Amino acid sequence: MQKILILDFGGQYNQLIARRVRENRVYCEVHPHSLSREEILRFDPIGVIFTGGPRSVYDADAPRVDPVVFSLGVPILGICYGCQLLAQTLGGQVVPAQDASAREYGKTLTSFDKSCTLFRDLPEQSVTWMSHGDYLSRVPEGFSLAAHSAACPTAAICDEKRRIYGVQFHPEVRHTEYGAAMLHTFLYEICGAVGDWSMAGFRESAVAAIRREVGDGKVLLALSGGVDSSVAAALLAEAIGKKLNCVFVDHGLMRLHEGDEIEAVFSKRDLNFVRVNAEERFLRRLAGVTEPERKRKIIGEEFIRVFEEEARKIGAVDFLAQGTIYPDVIESGSGDAAVIKSHHNVGGLPDTVDFREILEPLRLLFKDEVRQLGRELGLPEALVSRQPFPGPGLGIRVIGEVTREKLEILRRADAIFREELGKAALPEAPGQYFAVLTDLRSVGVMGDGRSYDHAVALRSVQTPRFMTADWSRLPYELLDRVSVRIVNEVRGVNRVLYDITSKPPATVEFE
Ligand code: XMP
Repeated sequence: MQKILILDFGGQYNQLIARRVRENRVYCEVHPHSLSREEILRFDPIGVIFTGGPRSVYDADAPRVDPVVFSLGVPILGICYGCQLLAQTLGGQVVPAQDASAREYGKTLTSFDKSCTLFRDLPEQSVTWMSHGDYLSRVPEGFSLAAHSAACPTAAICDEKRRIYGVQFHPEVRHTEYGAAMLHTFLYEICGAVGDWSMAGFRESAVAAIRREVGDGKVLLALSGGVDSSVAAALLAEAIGKKLNCVFVDHGLMRLHEGDEIEAVFSKRDLNFVRVNAEERFLRRLAGVTEPERKRKIIGEEFIRVFEEEARKIGAVDFLAQGTIYPDVIESGSGDAAVIKSHHNVGGLPDTVDFREILEPLRLLFKDEVRQLGRELGLPEALVSRQPFPGPGLGIRVIGEVTREKLEILRRADAIFREELGKAALPEAPGQYFAVLTDLRSVGVMGDGRSYDHAVALRSVQTPRFMTADWSRLPYELLDRVSVRIVNEVRGVNRVLYDITSKPPATVEFE
């Protein structure tokens, strides 16, 4: 399989570059800029991309790259800091922009020289996304100028002979009008990519690799029902069948029918599947507890306890499997093999389970690729396109004390909201949407009588990565339909509220 090496200088769009490359059906990996000479040679890429970064290349301790990368003879594309670094390394000069007008931030009209292969098929002018304070004041020998903007004469440089290209702007960002076309040209016209990265291919090679690694060993997976652990389970099941043991701890804090759906999907597959119905013991431990952090802690600890008990019954396991995905790997140290996630979406890994090694079969995939793989493996769409769901489940969406009765009310209200929103086919789908049972009771009038019932809050957010979020501007008619249905169909609710706070200052979840 052809590979693109992405060398990471710490820019904020680095994962985006990798996703764009993969969307072009070309495999790539993101590695720290400090990757050793041997590792670069061993990687054997068909092309290299230097990412952007927050530093200045003339700082004494500026991040650099082993020069062997320039002697590989493969094309290089430097983006922003990456452009400045390659230019400086090859004899050019980078200086801080003297006055504010030479710094560029945001959408910038840029003119291109169409004799540069990278821009050959594009219009002569288009908008790019700039974000830089330094600029290239002298172009290295062998390079020519290939683009300029009003403030920056060196918006792109190229050396067609050595196939080295540098762009001051960010082609990976959608605001760069023809950024996708530029990356496509770099990959296919310049690096000679053939587009051999596909989920079908990944599935085949991953299955073979898992079989090799596991041999006759026994594997244990904590199945939460979330996308990542479900896809990991399906992939492992295909590879090693009955050597895989999945433990699904149903804490009774799942959404409507969720536990049964998970069981239906996995009990049919060729694996050992255990569902532990632990609602009783979770609710017992949560009785009387109202403080959010305390609730989270109890749920996390209890989960581990149940999981450990089940693991002990299964007996000595050789591997503990996890659904770690590529963004976690990149964020926790750019692919160091030994990185073991310290957190799990159900609140922490048991340390006392006896296992030799960690197996992370999805560690090179992005979330959208994980979903694609899930479809490829025949998992139902409802499971594969599931929105994020917190490990503590509805335990942190019932505000205050969690009881069976309150959970039942919430489950039914939440199902109505999700059903109606799902049907609405909004132009911009929210990243997450759910109902919350507030601990507010209020007076209402139902039929001819007075009611004193629960208030349900609806939450829907648009969010790039869940670090920040904006509340969704849902159509009034949709909110109206949901509200009417909830108060009519869910006993115990007489008021529906819609949350119009963003994150920050609020968070996505209420607790
Ligand atoms: P907050 O409420 O922190 O949520 O703005 C951001 C995202 O994280 C999810 N979330 C969790 N996920 N375990 C998880 O696996 C948790 O304890 C947890 N708490 C919040 C939340 O649903 C949202 O997607």
